[in-house]
This record gives sequence, structure tokens and C-alpha cells, in this order.
Amino acid sequence: MSLPDYRYPDKAPGPRSLISICMAWSLRTLPTLSEDQFSQWGKLLEERTGIQLVFQQKAWLESQMSSRMRELGFEDYDHYYLYVTHGLEGKLEWTRLIDRIAVKETSFFRHRDSIEYVRQYLQNKINNQTLHNSFDVWSLGCATGEEPYSLAMVINDCFELAMLDPYYGITAMDISSSALAAGRKARYSKRRIEQIKPEEIKRYMHQCADGSFEVVGKLRDRVCFTQANIIHARQLPHVKVDVIFCQNLLVYFRRWLRRDVLNALIDRLKPGGLLVVGLGETVDWEHPLMQRTTDDQVQAYIRAEQE
Ligand SMILES: C[S@@+](CC[C@H](N)C(=O)[O-])C[C@H]1O[C@@H](n2cnc3c(N)ncnc32)[C@H](O)[C@@H]1O
Repeated sequence: MSLPDYRYPDKAPGPRSLISICMAWSLRTLPTLSEDQFSQWGKLLEERTGIQLVFQQKAWLESQMSSRMRELGFEDYDHYYLYVTHGLEGKLEWTRLIDRIAVKETSFFRHRDSIEYVRQYLQNKINNQTLHNSFDVWSLGCATGEEPYSLAMVINDCFELAMLDPYYGITAMDISSSALAAGRKARYSKRRIEQIKPEEIKRYMHQCADGSFEVVGKLRDRVCFTQANIIHARQLPHVKVDVIFCQNLLVYFRRWLRRDVLNALIDRLKPGGLLVVGLGETVDWEHPLMQRTTDDQVQAYIRAEQE
């Protein structure tokens, strides 16, 4: 099967013909995604990201894909599939498609109890004088940055309260490059900061001329956004961190993959390190080095001090 030439003809069209081309594409209805095509795309998505689709998402997948296909001029899913699965252009296109397909729903302090648990964990370390090196955190599946910045707020609070130099770093990882770009920009509308307490807004956000809110520089400087695919957790940087925070991501994976990813992440935790997942996200996971904490409002585990 040959790939369609989705590009415009050699002679670049003028603005009027461009508009008519765009209108023609947007008016054209794409054929329905068949069940076989849905399972073919679902398989590809799961192989590459771990995200498992359910049949009820077929119409949604169709609308996400067809809007992208229209932009490129593809008229059927099979040709687009070939395009996405071949060559360098296919690789680039895949990253754009993932930006549309990955669910990036998030908010500041989405699950406040979990974020506060990290505060308590650090506070104990400071009180017990067991914080010897920098305090390092991973936020996995960080979406558009609200989660790592919420963590930065409580961590910064602890350092300031103890009058210590803020010696910490948060590595925020996600598969979606557009989500990471939004995180780096660190600007949020008024609606998006509703879950931040007024005193936290005063300390950590400043209002921009256009009415949006920007995370202050002292927090932005502590958060580093980087692209990573968590299903390849064993290939993540070989460093040891104090906290791994991973919420509302594993839930999209099959159970065996959730367990696999978690088992791999343990190698990246310092002795005594903390792992926080979403409440109920992994019901059947146990590991000999990890002890579930007693607080039942959070799903957190502490790594044994010694192996
Ligand atoms: C629903 S959001 C959760 C965001 C945040 N953790 C929270 O709880 O609010 C899930 C995020 O995981 C990302 N994601 C999905 N599959 C991924 C993968 N295989 N590796 C890394 N990130 C992934 C998505 O791009 C999305 O930003």
C-alpha cells in the first residue's frame, strides 16, 4: 500500500485556495472507525504507552484521530496507521497524536491528602534531622504541571518554616510534549487555580497582565520537566530519589503492567523513600521492600532502610 501524499501541490496555494482546501477537508466526513481498526489502534496505543482503551471510547478516539487526519489530509484510518508506524515522520506524528489521545486531566492539589502526606514526610525528616542531602522528588505523569507545582509549594513551605536553604528538586515526567510545554510555561487561568488556598496563591502565584496566574520563579526553578515513557521505567535515570509521586496514570494500565512499573520504580527510591500512588490504583500490589503506611486516606509506601 502506498502512502498518500498529504502535502499540498508543489506550487504553494495562495491564501484563498488554502482557505478553500481547509474548508473542503473540514466538511468531509471521515468513514467510521471499524471494530477491527479500533482494536488495531488500541493495540498500538497500548504497546507504545500502556494506555488501555475500552470499547466505549471508540467514538472519542475516532473524533480525536479524525480531526488530526483532516489536518493532514488523510481520508482513511488504514493509510494514517501506515503513516504513523513508519519512518521518522511517523515517529514525529505519533508524538502529536499522543498529545491528543492522552487524558491530561489534572488540577492543583488534586488529592490534597496525598500532597500533604509529602509535607508531613519531609517535615518529619527535618524535625528528626535525617535530611542530609537534597530532597529529590519525581512526579510521574505530571501532565500540565499542576501536580509538581503543588508538591513544590508544600516542600518549599517546609524549608522556609525550618529556615533552611531550599535544597530540593522535582523532576516532572510525562509522555506528552504539549503537556510538558504547558508545565514549563507555568501559567494558569483563574479557574485552574481554584483548588489552591488563598494564602498559597499569595505566596506562590503572581497575576499576569492578561489575568492569568504564573507560578513564582523560586518554584519554577526547582521543577524540571522532561519527556519519559513510564512503561520503560527501567530505563529512567539511575538515580535515587526521596519521593516518587505517581497518581492517575497507572489506572490506565493493565494490572500486570502496573505491578511491573511499580517494581521497577522501587530501584529508584532511596532507603526510607516514599512512594505515593492514587488511592485504589493498585489494589493487589505488594513488595518485600515496601511497607504500606497506616493512613488510609492515602495510598503510600515506605521503602525499607535496608535490603
Ligand atoms: C490523567 S493525567 C494525571 C495527571 C496528574 N498525575 C494528576 O493526577 O492530576 C495522566 C498523565 O499521564 C500521561 N501519560 C500517559 N501515559 C504515559 C506514559 N506511558 N508515560 C508517561 N506519561 C504518561 C498523560 O500524558 C497525562 O498527562
